[in-house]
Amino acid sequence: MGIQITPSLLNADFANLEAEAARIPGADWLHMDVMDNHFVPNLTLGAPVIEALSKVASQPIDAHLMIADPDRWAPSFVEAGAGSVTFHVEAAAAPVRLAREIRAKGARASMALKPATPIEPYEDLLPELDMVLVMTVEPGFGGQKFLDLCLPKIRRARELIDNTGGGLWLQVDGGVSLETIERCAEAGADTFVAGSAVFGADDPEAMVRSLRETAASVSSS
Ligand code: DX5
Ligand code: ZN
Repeated sequence: MGIQITPSLLNADFANLEAEAARIPGADWLHMDVMDNHFVPNLTLGAPVIEALSKVASQPIDAHLMIADPDRWAPSFVEAGAGSVTFHVEAAAAPVRLAREIRAKGARASMALKPATPIEPYEDLLPELDMVLVMTVEPGFGGQKFLDLCLPKIRRARELIDNTGGGLWLQVDGGVSLETIERCAEAGADTFVAGSAVFGADDPEAMVRSLRETAASVSSS
C-alpha cells in the first residue's frame, strides 16, 4: 500500500469541517477523533458529525474511537459512513466479535493500543484486523509531545504483522511531525496521523506532501 497520511481534524476548525477537509485534498484519509469523556478526559464528536462530513468530503473517513463500550457503538460509525473504524482494545469486551461486525458492515476494522498496552497478547487477533494503531501519546488531546518509548512497540508490531502476512496497515498517532515521522517510519509504521503538524501549518496540503516525502525517503532507504 505504501505510505499513507491521515491528518487528524482534532486541531482543525470545528465550525468549518467541510472547508478544512478541502484544504488537504492530497490526504489519503480524514482521521476523526471520537472522545466520550469516559475512556479519555475529553469530549469531541460522534456519528452524526462523521455522517455529515462523509457526505461532503472527497477523502474517506478514518474514525478513531476513544470511547467506552465500543462493542455497542462502533458499528454505528460504519453506518455513518466511516471507511475505517478503530476501537481501543483496552475498552472492547469482545474484540474478535467487534472486528468481524465492523468488517461485515463494510468498513476496515482496526485495533488501537495506548502507550502502556503491549501488542503481544493480541497477536492472534491480527488476522481479524485491517490495521493496528499504536498510540504515541496518551489519547485525549492533540498537540502533545511524541513518546519515544513507543518506538520498540512499533517495531514489534511490524514484526508480528509481517509474520501474519495479511498486509495490515500499521498506523501511528500522536505527536507525529516532520521531526518525528522518520523515527516512526524506520520502526515500521506506514500510516501516519498528524493533527497539529498539519493544521498548525501555513499550508496544510504542503505539509501533507512533506510528511509523505519524509516518511517515504526513510522506508525506501
Ligand atoms: C489524540 C488523538 C490524535 C491527535 C493527534 O488522542 O487520537 O489523533 O489528535 O494530534 P497531534 O498530531 O497534534 O498529536
Ligand atoms: Zn487519533
